[in-house]
Amino acid sequence: MAYLLADFCSDAREILSADDSARGREAVRARLEQLLTDDAFCAEYVSDDAPRGMRQIYEDEATGFCVLAYNMTEPRKSPPHDHGRSWAVYGQAVGYTDMTVWKETGCGLEPEREFRLNAGDAGLFDVRDIHSIEYGAGARFVRVTGVEMSGEARRVFDPEAGTLREIESVGAGSARSG
Ligand SMILES: [Fe+2]
Repeated sequence: MAYLLADFCSDAREILSADDSARGREAVRARLEQLLTDDAFCAEYVSDDAPRGMRQIYEDEATGFCVLAYNMTEPRKSPPHDHGRSWAVYGQAVGYTDMTVWKETGCGLEPEREFRLNAGDAGLFDVRDIHSIEYGAGARFVRVTGVEMSGEARRVFDPEAGTLREIESVGAGSARSG
C-alpha cells in the first residue's frame, strides 16, 4: 500500500501533537523508514529526476516540523554540530551516510558512537545531541527537523579553537551543514 509524503506528514503531526518527546520522535523515525519504502515518494523527491541540492518539501503549521530532501552530487563531511532547539531525523534513500555522535569532555569533544545509515535506514538525533555526518558522492536522503532551522541558534565545532561555537543559521545555508 502506498505511503506518500502526505501520509507521513499526517502521521508525524498526530504523533508529535500527542507526544513531542524522545518516544514520539522515535515513532517519527520509524515512519520515515516506511516513507523510504514508497517508490512514488522516492521517484518524486530523491531520484535522478529530483532537483539537485537541498530543498524543503514540507513545513507543518500545527507542530512546526519540516521535511527536507537532499540530492547531493559531491561527497561531504560536516563538522560536529547540533540543531539548537530542534531534533533531527535523517533517512537515507540512496548511498550511505556515516554518523558520529560526540560527547563534550573537559577539553573538547570525543566520539561516543558511530554508525552507518544505509538505504532505507533512518536515525534520530535528539535536541542538543552533537553529531557529524559524512556521505559519499550521489547520496540522497531526507531530513526531518523539529522546527524550521532558519534563524535558529545552534552549535558548530570550531576545529581551530577546539570548542563548540554558537552560530545563527541563515536560510538554506544552514541546512547544508546537515
Ligand atoms: Fe545535523
